[in-house]
Amino acid sequence: MQKLLDGTAIAATIKQEVAEGVKALAAQGVRPGLAAVLVGQVPASEIYVRSKVQTCAELGIYSDLIRPPETVTTEEMLELVQGLNDRDDVDGILIQLPLPKQVDTKALLDAVLPAKDVDGFHPVNAGRLQAGRPALAPCTPAGVIEILKRSGLPIAGQHAVVVGRSDIVGKPVAMLLLHENATVTICHSKTRDLGAVTREADILVAAIGRPGLITAEMVKPGATIIDVGINRVTTREEFDRFFAGDAKREATFAKRGSTLVGDVHPKAFELAGAYTPVPGGVGPLTIAMLMANTLRAAKMRRGL
Ligand SMILES: NC(=O)c1ccc[n+]([C@@H]2O[C@H](COP(=O)([O-])OP(=O)(O)OC[C@H]3O[C@@H](n4cnc5c(N)ncnc54)[C@H](OP(=O)(O)O)[C@@H]3O)[C@@H](O)[C@H]2O)c1
Repeated sequence: MQKLLDGTAIAATIKQEVAEGVKALAAQGVRPGLAAVLVGQVPASEIYVRSKVQTCAELGIYSDLIRPPETVTTEEMLELVQGLNDRDDVDGILIQLPLPKQVDTKALLDAVLPAKDVDGFHPVNAGRLQAGRPALAPCTPAGVIEILKRSGLPIAGQHAVVVGRSDIVGKPVAMLLLHENATVTICHSKTRDLGAVTREADILVAAIGRPGLITAEMVKPGATIIDVGINRVTTREEFDRFFAGDAKREATFAKRGSTLVGDVHPKAFELAGAYTPVPGGVGPLTIAMLMANTLRAAKMRRGL
């Protein structure tokens, strides 16, 4: 088994499968469609949405990019979402977060038809996921499970420790691991002696948003480490803390003035039985699973 879990390669396989599924649907006269709503001009959001739209095109999925102005109101956004709920050529609705502060994000996410909620953020889908019913699961957590399964790593009976309890990553990934029969512990900022808990993990999922918080002393040798965190390193001091002596990273840092680090300190990966790198681990799965969810939504809505 390979120690480095190549998320880019796994995502490419999933996208290939989605493209085949899209082709099969085309034979039945159906073309899955994704509407992406991008408000204002947040540079990171622009990059994410652009690559989502581009991936749709690559896989034969119709996409519609809708760009309301930064000044949009909650009422205008609700009206927009209602229109997308009603459109038959739209199977998935993606509202890129964060939204400007005058917009009520929760009200908006709740307004998306659960059958078109390809991000899996609607409470109905969260509830269905918890109840073990068919649901559109959030993309990043679903991607974590795909990495484990497609790499032949056991989940059933393993002690999985999830650090982070957000609605978009921590909670749903814990629920998915539970459904795969792992014994699951969820940690958060109030957890006492975090290292004592993470050292018990056969599968350690870090979804914290704190660069390199999980250090080598917090990891059981041989554990599988899934690092969901994406943090940008911009200072020399921080760079040296994580990547001193890493020539490849040094080159990236010199060229771009920044590099990415996960929530796991790179030294901890040396102890792992298997691990996802940052970048190139969990990240690529998110878009792949969004595509898979869009195909699934298109089929489910038509009873196919
Ligand atoms: N495509 C992808 O790969 C992808 C997708 C989504 C997110 N991410 C990345 O994943 C990370 C987590 O994202 P998120 O949206 O889940 O973040 P979030 O909403 O900020 O949640 C972070 C969680 O970490 C916990 N936490 C914070 N500090 C901690 C500490 N010192 N010890 C233990 N737990 C601590 C928080 O605990 P409390 O609940 O107690 O505050 C919270 O539950 C981020 O780096 C994000 O960029 C990546």
